[in-house]
Amino acid sequence: HGDKGLAGKRVVITAGPTREPIDPVRYISNHSSGKMGYALAVAARDAGAKVVLVSGPVNLESPAGVDVRAVITAEDMLKAASLAVDEGCDLFVATAAVADYRPENCASDKIKKSSETMALPLTRNPDTLATIAGRSDAPFTVGFAAETSDVAHYAKDKMQRKNLRMIVANDVSAPGLGFNSDDNAVTVFWSGGQETIGPDTKKRIASRLIELIGERLKQE
Ligand code: PMT
Repeated sequence: HGDKGLAGKRVVITAGPTREPIDPVRYISNHSSGKMGYALAVAARDAGAKVVLVSGPVNLESPAGVDVRAVITAEDMLKAASLAVDEGCDLFVATAAVADYRPENCASDKIKKSSETMALPLTRNPDTLATIAGRSDAPFTVGFAAETSDVAHYAKDKMQRKNLRMIVANDVSAPGLGFNSDDNAVTVFWSGGQETIGPDTKKRIASRLIELIGERLKQE
């Protein structure tokens, strides 16, 4: 596969949604299918990298040759990703759609229906991407930003705030793109450049992203 800058590199990728339990039968989640993250794991594997995929609950087959570690909640995801980075990591890519909040308490019994309205207190979840990017031994870190408006502005702001080397801005307002579809369209930003990829399949977008990341890594 030639040297695309990723041969022999250790890569950790997060993918899919998280689920935050409300009671034994209910949870808060989102429409992420994991397809984007799995496509990136395959593209990185094909470029010769050793890949750990920290995956929320999805209906996708584990790609051959990829070390898939299943998680459910945002807190699980942070633990599994931190462990994988501790084991050695040159590149970290966060494609997961992590729930920003979880129910303050998970009820031990199924919540019964009673009054017309009810309130569910929520508490902030830990941010895996910001935690990994903030480590003193941080790997080359790439984030995603799913936005519905002013995509470039929010993405660049996130890149700076979270101390990222690259950010992939995903406009999830267009129908048929983004969450839970086979296609996507993104704009990648790094210090000194940007490139728009797609609309195209997540597979082709993933291989171009891996090429771009490889070029940046090579220049390190
Ligand atoms: O899974 P698919 O159906 O293929 O859809 C792909 C996708 C649309 C989910 C994906 O391309 C995407 O855009 N992922 C980021 C989704 C998101 O919700 O982004 P965010 O703006 O909330 O978070 C920004 C970044 O921080 C992301 O890299 C996210 O993984 C990371 N993050 C956020 C919160 C948190 N608690 N921990 C994190 O690691």
